[in-house]
Amino acid sequence: MSFERKHLLGLEDVSAEEITHILDTAETFKEILQRPIPKVPTLRGKTIVNLFYEASTRTRFSFELAEKRLSADTLNFSTSASAVKKGESLRDTAQNIEAMKVDMVVIRHSAAGAPHYLAQCIKGSVINAGDGCHEHPTQALLDMLTIRDNYKDFKGLRVAIVGDILHSRVARSNIYGLTTMGAEVALCAPQTLIPYEAEKWNVRLLNDVDEAIGFADIVMALRIQMERQTQNFFPTLREYHNFFGITRERLDRANKKVTIMHPGPINRGIELDSDLADDEHHSVILNQVTNGVAIRMAVLYLLSGETQE
Ligand code: CP
Repeated sequence: MSFERKHLLGLEDVSAEEITHILDTAETFKEILQRPIPKVPTLRGKTIVNLFYEASTRTRFSFELAEKRLSADTLNFSTSASAVKKGESLRDTAQNIEAMKVDMVVIRHSAAGAPHYLAQCIKGSVINAGDGCHEHPTQALLDMLTIRDNYKDFKGLRVAIVGDILHSRVARSNIYGLTTMGAEVALCAPQTLIPYEAEKWNVRLLNDVDEAIGFADIVMALRIQMERQTQNFFPTLREYHNFFGITRERLDRANKKVTIMHPGPINRGIELDSDLADDEHHSVILNQVTNGVAIRMAVLYLLSGETQE
């Protein structure tokens, strides 16, 4: 299958065939990453800018690593060490990037829609590495690759997304991607952390975390995004943990095999018990991180229009 997209801005309009193609391509890169020299010349001569206006550990490092594994030339931009500190706008930054003949831009920005705007300003490809509370498509793709490592089929698979759905770009991209692939998705959070638009999504809404665990093959715990809490969405973190935390006690009570996922960073002891995060019987959290490199290699490769040697 050829890949016709120039940009990856979100998963809302990405088909099941395209998602499957990205996951299959990532499998070939997983094999390359196992080799003694895990590097291929696929993007030799291409220049990629990593434009991070917001903090990141996993996404930024795995894009950088993916670009190096594909032999691309990379430039790293962070707001603290750029002319943004002097007030330069996204538009002016984009025009300067364009003037330097960059092939691809990976952007993380606090404003929803910033990658879409950038895609209108430059000739190169744009990859959304997280825009505000909107989408984080490569995170959902690496989550789906991790799910596919552990389960045969998305069809009929039950995934409960538990936590701060309102502010979560990871939740939105996973909801679009997982429902497109045929999984059943439930959202569980205090009513104040469920967005109004959730009624339009093809998901169940649950407000009892025991019910969510009972429903699920996979529980995807989400971070309470303290930096985006503009109102008192819940009384205290202790109360949030008591009512919505994924705990050992709750999993024992459910008495079933449940896979625990989390996009990171984790607030240990708030949305997820610390020992559960590290429990290899349940947790695939570090597998998600490992898969991030292969997924980002696949996305960079497919958008570049290059062929593998
Ligand atoms: N999952 C994720 O986006 O993590 P970072 O913020 O560290 O990139």
